[in-house]
Amino acid sequence: MTELQEVQITEERPLLPGQTPEMAKEAELAARILLDRGQTHSVETPYGSVTFTVYGTPKPKRPAILTYHDVGLNYKSCFQPLFQSGDMQEIIQNFVRVHVNAPGMEEGAPVYPVGYQYPSLDQLADTIPCILQYLNFSSIIGVGVGAGAYILSRYALNHQDTVEGLVLINIDPNAKGWMDWAAHKLTGLTSSIPEMILGHLFSQEELSGNSELIQKYRNIITHAPNIENIELYWNSYNNRRDLNFERGGDITLKCPVMLVVECNSKLDPTQTSFLKMADSGGQPQLTQPGKLTEAFKYFLQGMGYMASSCMTRLSRSRTASLTSAASIDGSRSRTRTLSQSSESGTLPSGTPGHTMEVSC
Ligand code: BEZ
Repeated sequence: MTELQEVQITEERPLLPGQTPEMAKEAELAARILLDRGQTHSVETPYGSVTFTVYGTPKPKRPAILTYHDVGLNYKSCFQPLFQSGDMQEIIQNFVRVHVNAPGMEEGAPVYPVGYQYPSLDQLADTIPCILQYLNFSSIIGVGVGAGAYILSRYALNHQDTVEGLVLINIDPNAKGWMDWAAHKLTGLTSSIPEMILGHLFSQEELSGNSELIQKYRNIITHAPNIENIELYWNSYNNRRDLNFERGGDITLKCPVMLVVECNSKLDPTQTSFLKMADSGGQPQLTQPGKLTEAFKYFLQGMGYMASSCMTRLSRSRTASLTSAASIDGSRSRTRTLSQSSESGTLPSGTPGHTMEVSC
C-alpha cells in the first residue's frame, strides 16, 4: 500500500517548491504509467505467501475489482486479454483492480519442495482478507474463473458484507462424486497433468480445433517451469468440498451474481443474472472478451456503477428502459438491470435473475 500511496494522484495536488506546472504534469504522467503497469505485492498469510498485482488507483466509495484465476494459469494468462480489451477500458478507469495469483503461480515462482502442504481452495479463500487488510480495501466485486470462481464464492459465503458482486465464469460448485473420481483416475492413467488441465480449461471441440489460442495455452502449460506447483493447485481443485449452495436456504450468495454458463439451479434467481454465451468454450474471457465486457457493463450498471452514457449504443438501447439509478459517482441503488432474454435474442425484459444472452 505504501507504494500505492506514494504515487497516488489527485487532480489538485499543490506544486512542490521549485516545481513548474509542466514538471508536475510530467511527474503525474510518470506515476500513471507506473500504476498502469501494475504494482506487485506479497503478503504473508497463514497459508503461505500470496502475490497480487494492483492496477489503477482506489476510487472513493467504490469496491475494488478483485480477480482470481483458474488452474494452469496466473492472473496475466487468465485475465490480461479481458482487461486489456478495448471496451473494458471504460469500465476499468472507474475501478482499482487487484489480481491475485494463487500461491506458486506467479511468474518466476520457485517450485515447492516435495511434500509441501498446498492450501485447499477453502484456505485460499481465507487468504483474501489478508490481501484486503493489507490494501485497506473494504469491499470488492469478484471476478473468478473455474477454481478462482469457486474460491471467490467461498470467500463471499464467509464474508458477505465485503462482496458487492460476483462474476463467476464456469464455476463447478460441487465436490467430485465417486463417478467423477473414477473418470479422473482413469484419465490420469493415460493423460499427463498438462493434458488433464487443458481438458479442464477448454472444451474437447476447442482442443481438437487446435486454434492459435489453444496452441499458445498448450505451450504455456506444457512448458511451465512451475508445473509441480500447478499440479498442487489442480489437486486442491479436485479435492474441493461442495459449496452447498441452496436456493432460498442459508448457504447462498447474497450479493448480485453474474453467472457465465452452467450452475443456474442452485442460486437465488432474484439475485442472479445468467449469461449464456453461444460457443463460449471454457475460457470466454480469452476467447470472447468483447461479449463478456458488454455483459459486465450491464451487470455493473445494475449495481448502479456505470452510467448508461458509458455503454455502447447497443447496450444503451437494450437497457434504457430498465435502469433507474445508475451513476458513476459511487452512489448507487440495488436496481437490477440484467435480465432475461428469450432464445430469439430479445434482451432485458426487466425481471432480474434469468438468462441474459449477448448475441454474436
Ligand atoms: C488491468 O488493467 O487490470 C490489467 C492489466 C494487465 C493484465 C491484467 C489486468
